[in-house]
Amino acid sequence: MSQLPPPYYNDDKNSFAFPTVHKRWPTILNGAIDDVQLTIDEDSNLKESGSKIINQFKQLLDDLKNDTKVREFNEIEIKANPDLKHFNKSLEKFNQQKEVTWQTGPWLYLECYLYQYINNFFILSGESYWHSFDIFQRLKTKTFKQSELGVLELCKRYESLSKQLNKTDEETLHLLFIEFIDISLWGNATDLSLLAGDVSLEDIKSVQGAEVRKKNEEKIIVNDLKQAWNETNLKQGSNSRIDIILDNSGFELFADLILSLYLLDSNLTNEIHLHCKEIPWFVSDTMIKDFHDLIDQMKDKNFYPEIYKTDPKAIELVYSKIENYYNDKKIIVESHPFWTLDYNYWLIPGFSDLYDNLKKSKLIIFKGDLNYRKLTGDLQWPKTTTFKESIQDLATSGLPILSLRTCKADVVVGLPEGLEEKLQKQADNWATSGKYAVISYNK
Ligand code: F6P
Ligand code: MG
Repeated sequence: MSQLPPPYYNDDKNSFAFPTVHKRWPTILNGAIDDVQLTIDEDSNLKESGSKIINQFKQLLDDLKNDTKVREFNEIEIKANPDLKHFNKSLEKFNQQKEVTWQTGPWLYLECYLYQYINNFFILSGESYWHSFDIFQRLKTKTFKQSELGVLELCKRYESLSKQLNKTDEETLHLLFIEFIDISLWGNATDLSLLAGDVSLEDIKSVQGAEVRKKNEEKIIVNDLKQAWNETNLKQGSNSRIDIILDNSGFELFADLILSLYLLDSNLTNEIHLHCKEIPWFVSDTMIKDFHDLIDQMKDKNFYPEIYKTDPKAIELVYSKIENYYNDKKIIVESHPFWTLDYNYWLIPGFSDLYDNLKKSKLIIFKGDLNYRKLTGDLQWPKTTTFKESIQDLATSGLPILSLRTCKADVVVGLPEGLEEKLQKQADNWATSGKYAVISYNK
């Protein structure tokens, strides 16, 4: 395809952009207002600065509602965060095609812009307390706490398998690889921005168990895992690293850590790099501090009272393994500002420090929906487009890519002829419901 398809726009009633802008964003922003209010209620010294932040949120809600023109980031904002220059560059380009307003502009760009815009309220508040404040922290913690049963089940599964991990034959290792990838894949069904839509906490918890994962096998509508296993040098004792571009904290991060333990224990790699976000992003995305919080929460008897009352051995094994690998620098947690730009991932080679870093990896696992949107540019590709074509220059960049994603946005590629029509007959919202998944690979 010589000319690229257009992106998804916020005023496209057939796109998931439309309910996102009209329903999910206001819910997320109103939740943020409540959170700042709660914080002020706990500490009256924060009243003045906090009220200013609340007013900024209210103004933003009005702007969304009135569909105002989206403005450039100003000099003060750019001084506080030079990365915002990239957003202005993109905005200028989009404006040349059509004036960008909140309700009509390109979905992926505006969604990324929104989280940077909110971040400015905090870093420019003039009150140091807010500078490192995570507006989504309360929600992240609450939801991970409610995942207690899923956490216990995975800890036990890991405990029973870990005894055999360093001496298994290739066939067993392969089967375990499939199982642990599956755990990490369906961990992505738990992103918290879903709570701003029609999905309940009960729905989220219901996808956290082994039985459900088994039943969901046929819901993986693209599955390149065999190819990934065959074409990646995943041999025991190989001296090389695997990278995971993380998505959500809480249960998904926990599932990714279980996958990491398998990869390290089985000696398929000797170094895992976990890539985090630098600012609160798409509600539940993992920041470096979330990794540390998660370990502290696993150790906390009050956080998981049931686990500690009934069966603490497995969780103790899991957190101590993670900690040991972390202390031995076999799990490395890092971040880069690129992950919170609006850019799609075809541009990674242009960011030489990040590109050179990723080139050291034998497999780069991209987790989740937003990463998939950025891999494919969030363009309106025909669904039978190959994954290779949809990731454009990235396909020949030498970066080996494995994307694990439950489908929560319109863009889906790699389907065989006829499957889209079949899925459409089953449910109109198959591409956005989070009930289907894709595993896409490009060497
Ligand atoms: O707000 C919509 C959205 O961008 C969807 O693409 C997706 O449902 C969600 O936010 C982020 O999902 P994930 O955490 O899997 O990247
Ligand atoms: Mg996310």
